[in-house]
Amino acid sequence: MGLVPMADILEKANDEYYAVGGFNINNMEFLQGIIWAAEETNSPLILQASEGAIKYIGMDYVINMVKAAVRDTHIPVALHLDHGSSYEVIMRCIREGFSSVMYDGSKYPFKQNIRLTKEVVKAAHSVGVTVEAELGKIGGTEDDVDVDEKDAKFTKPEEAEEFVEKTGVDALAIAIGTAHGVYKGDPELDFDRLEKINSSLNMPLVLHGASGVPDEDVRKAVSMGINKVNVNTAFQQAFTAKIKELFDKDPELYDPRKYCGPARDAISEAVKEKIEILGSKNRA
Ligand code: G3H
Ligand code: ZN
Repeated sequence: MGLVPMADILEKANDEYYAVGGFNINNMEFLQGIIWAAEETNSPLILQASEGAIKYIGMDYVINMVKAAVRDTHIPVALHLDHGSSYEVIMRCIREGFSSVMYDGSKYPFKQNIRLTKEVVKAAHSVGVTVEAELGKIGGTEDDVDVDEKDAKFTKPEEAEEFVEKTGVDALAIAIGTAHGVYKGDPELDFDRLEKINSSLNMPLVLHGASGVPDEDVRKAVSMGINKVNVNTAFQQAFTAKIKELFDKDPELYDPRKYCGPARDAISEAVKEKIEILGSKNRA
């Protein structure tokens, strides 16, 4: 099966009340660990690459590794640009074959975010590519996206309605108390805000920065209308913890396959757990 538009995956999730993982790829082991876990659990999957990951891996490698990964798969997979910062980056990803893009205009004032997002939607929809946008501002750090806690802004429900109506986006990332990266304290999710946003918008909502959010809060958010849950840091931690453990046991290790292989398996285990929590198991 080739890549599918993210909208197809999220439309089904929205109709059937579950969420699909937007899982970030950082290298080949991440890609394999993630897709193997999704195949084993028969789950749809959104593979996402940030601009930082594309820079690190290289665009050709991202595209061709993902093509190789989905060539014989039986599950629906979308390839999604995570936190696209400009029209130019987005056009490049669309030209290269991404089936979905996120335009993150959250750093701009409301009206400007609408205007810029609308331009992206027009171009992407003309070639069948899905668009996710962000309204409000999610705190924390992910690659080049760095938002100080004091600058984070919760999504306003009344603005969300206007934003979606004027831009025509397919999925909306909302700020309800999560943050990118490692949490300093326990995150406190504003479920009332989620309820208000979801009741006025019958469309897929996206939860970013889900790594340090307790499982029961993720489950609750999914039951209240979240259909895409983004995770990166937790899988990076699982990968690195396994490598540290192996080096603690045997500091003489030198063959990368002997530690990257088990670290890839550690990602698979962590992905399978997330898939259970999101309810996307056996929904392929
Ligand atoms: O866009 C990607 C995610 O929001 C990942 O966030 O690294 O905190 O899990 P995380
Ligand atoms: Zn994010």
